[in-house]
Amino acid sequence: MKKGKKEGRYIRLCAQIEDLLVKSPDQTARMSTIAAVLIHKMEYFFWCGFYRVDGQRLIVGPYQGPPACQILEGRGVCLAAVQQNQTIVVPDVHQFPGHIACDSRSLSEIVVPVRNAQGEVIAVLDVDSKEINSFDETDAHYLEKIVALLKD
Ligand code: SME
Repeated sequence: MKKGKKEGRYIRLCAQIEDLLVKSPDQTARMSTIAAVLIHKMEYFFWCGFYRVDGQRLIVGPYQGPPACQILEGRGVCLAAVQQNQTIVVPDVHQFPGHIACDSRSLSEIVVPVRNAQGEVIAVLDVDSKEINSFDETDAHYLEKIVALLKD
């Protein structure tokens, strides 16, 4: 998707999600709403959802798309984003050492940390695409804005 079109789409989505989340008093409800809106509005999103931090491992939360790994531990992009406390864009998953393939159709990926009010990483938002090189700084910028809405 071209940069201008992508940006316009995200600006409308942010407003829509913000509006919907006002009515959600619960973190699971908010995560579910975000995943559902994103998968329906962004056509290059193949899998989209959350993994929650549980000690040294991650447990899948609300998501949309094909069935995914329920527990991630030891390696992978999601765990790396938690450990590095930053968004990770992976243009080609086959080039990321330790990448965990929940579905072999996923070829590129972005993982965005979700932080609580104290700034601790409590979860990640993971988005996969069936094409390589789908995600860039525009996705990172707006997905970070969207997950900031989860702050309690
Ligand atoms: N690829 C991720 C695992 C989650 S699935 O993509 C849904 C990882 O390497 O952590």
